[in-house]
Amino acid sequence: MDKLIMRRRKQKQKQNPPRGESEVVFRPLPDGVEEDEPRRDLFMDLGYLKRKENWEYFFRSRKRDEFLIEWYAEWPQIQSLLTDQLLSRSSLLPESAGEAAAVQPGELNILVPGCGSSRLSEHLYDAGFKQITNVDFSDMVIKKMSERNKKQRPVMKWRATNVKALEFIDKSMDVIIDKAALDAFVVKRILKDGGRFICITVAGPIVRSILLFHFRFGWKTSVHDVPEEPESSSENQKGQVFMFVFEKDTCASVGLISTDIRKCESRDAESQEGKSRSQLIKELEDEQKYRDKYSGGSEVLNTLKDLNLEELKEYAPGRRIKLILVNHWIHSSEEGQKRLLAKLKAARALITQLKHIVRKLAPRCCDVGVPIPFFTSGEMVKACRTVLEVFSTVTGKIIVEETVYRKRLDYHDQDQYPEAFSLDYDDDDLNSNPKDQVFRRLIFHQSAGMTQSEALYKEVVEENKKEIHTTKKKKRQIISGSSSKKASNIEREIDHDYLAHPYHNAIISGLMLISPHRKRFTTNGPNVETVVIGLGGGSLPMFMKKRLATVNIQVVEIDDLVSDIATKYFDFKEAARLRDKAHSEAAGKLDILIVDVGSLDLSLGLNRPSEEFVQESFLRDAKNCLSEEGLFVMSVFCGPSALRAAIHSTLKNVFGESLLCLQLKVDEEVFFGLKNESAITEDYISAACDELETSLEAAVNHKWTKRVIKASKLIRPLR
Ligand SMILES: C[S@@+](CC[C@H](N)C(=O)[O-])C[C@H]1O[C@@H](n2cnc3c(N)ncnc32)[C@H](O)[C@@H]1O
Repeated sequence: MDKLIMRRRKQKQKQNPPRGESEVVFRPLPDGVEEDEPRRDLFMDLGYLKRKENWEYFFRSRKRDEFLIEWYAEWPQIQSLLTDQLLSRSSLLPESAGEAAAVQPGELNILVPGCGSSRLSEHLYDAGFKQITNVDFSDMVIKKMSERNKKQRPVMKWRATNVKALEFIDKSMDVIIDKAALDAFVVKRILKDGGRFICITVAGPIVRSILLFHFRFGWKTSVHDVPEEPESSSENQKGQVFMFVFEKDTCASVGLISTDIRKCESRDAESQEGKSRSQLIKELEDEQKYRDKYSGGSEVLNTLKDLNLEELKEYAPGRRIKLILVNHWIHSSEEGQKRLLAKLKAARALITQLKHIVRKLAPRCCDVGVPIPFFTSGEMVKACRTVLEVFSTVTGKIIVEETVYRKRLDYHDQDQYPEAFSLDYDDDDLNSNPKDQVFRRLIFHQSAGMTQSEALYKEVVEENKKEIHTTKKKKRQIISGSSSKKASNIEREIDHDYLAHPYHNAIISGLMLISPHRKRFTTNGPNVETVVIGLGGGSLPMFMKKRLATVNIQVVEIDDLVSDIATKYFDFKEAARLRDKAHSEAAGKLDILIVDVGSLDLSLGLNRPSEEFVQESFLRDAKNCLSEEGLFVMSVFCGPSALRAAIHSTLKNVFGESLLCLQLKVDEEVFFGLKNESAITEDYISAACDELETSLEAAVNHKWTKRVIKASKLIRPLR
């Protein structure tokens, strides 16, 4: 399937070359790149801009005389703003350095990540900034650009590598100039104190939230308008470009943002450009309020990346602080840390993740090479064993575990969201059941060991056994070491009636409550065409297949190994109605589209889905794929509130009044959007809930129906 998607992508790319970040909303396009018609291919954008092979293809498919491309802004537009920034000495450095003579262009070590085939570095070089290192993961771009420049600009460096893999030493760069290739984490590490990160961007919602959120503590920030291109004649080519400048401070304090960006003129207020400018101004104002609150210096939050344990003594000599060891991913986000602080009622705390310092806590006798076993009680885990550990080239290390819970309590948010929390309980299953319950868990090592899928692995009861033995094809797994006294080998199989993740249950409740096709689920009506993106262990599609009679599901999974694991370890079965293939004829035909994908890159605090799926371009494509009565469903698990707000606003832009949300926790939400944007009122939902309850209780009174009814009552319009 992966191959199929790639092949289709390539064909498509020929006609429609990619554009930069937030591409649908913003112009300008670089020279030679034409506006494409709205793309109908749902899968076109998935990870598109992050993949080396796509960029490589993009550059290769350009004609020789169209090779040079300038994204967002030409040199004359940024020349004076940029050189002023480069030549001004940092006020954040100690006095002695600050008093030194003016900055000499030749002394600045400049990095241009994702340089592409832009002429920016050439212009800088010609203006005297000779120490420039250009990096791009497209081998072809680097080869052509270095050939082009080797005679005229011999000192300039060209490196073909992934920005993320840069082996530059810490604090080695004076300036990093980013134009349309943002990577905040590398920047933070390799910039010198007092160094500048200059980001030239159209500042779409996601980029805004990254910039404002990740450069909050310890960065002097300013935001500027990049003037429009003087010769830009066509309205189409006009667009808003901004320059964000972040100066790295030696201490992690927070200061106000200085900005000179102009307010939108009233005649432009309703244009898309006007709206996005106003949105940026509003976000900057909100951010100022936030920073104002924290700028007193009494509270300093250090992110884990900034917090180097070796330097502990430098943080608060002689003062009492709490050192907190945590092992939950949420605490690596700023918001999670604040929540922890509030719970601890501590003014000051040093928070570090257990895995980082576990070796320091080990008894002296431990050999360096010996793994140190440590066990956490956080999830009330009674026992846990690894069933499989494999490496996938797509997903990294994948682990399948069998876990016995003492009692599945999620203690984090029970006070705040008692109703949603109750969805996690299953009185019959967990509290009054005297036996331990075993769950199979699918874990991706790369996403900080977060569980991707979880399924109840139940014992096969005697009556069923006979029946099962007669069906020879059925595979079952045997596990040993269970708590049962009867035998050492007990047969088990996955219970496809049990949705272990409350958000899966929330998805089902939304389908049954608001899909215009809901009546067809339990009848013999025509098929409800459904695509689920993200297989994992396959619990969701298997449940749907079992309980929603007429759904015709296609599952899209990018990693073949995950599909194999789902089949072997989670009893995922392909059937006529459940096919695993790319959805090639989707446009306008899908009744339901569900995005159920975890992210492998948790650096933004976005754990579900991965970043590409919350881009407006993807959401619009997804909406295009829906039939007139189609429903889009997406599960989002996102820590930082700024990023959450950006995702809400993007979803609202796309689905308007028809957008509904079921909030499970402060950072965990399931969204439902209808193709038909007519508003759904609270009254309508409440009537639909009653109807659902009556019909489900009359038809099947099963444990899953109770959970669905409970969850459906938490669905609200998102205004
Ligand atoms: C939108 S283009 C911008 C090019 C150039 N900075 C400009 O302003 O015209 C993005 C460039 O970043 C490169 N790129 C994207 N992700 C990268 C990564 N992780 N490592 C290195 N290069 C990357 C792509 O190959 C592409 O050339």
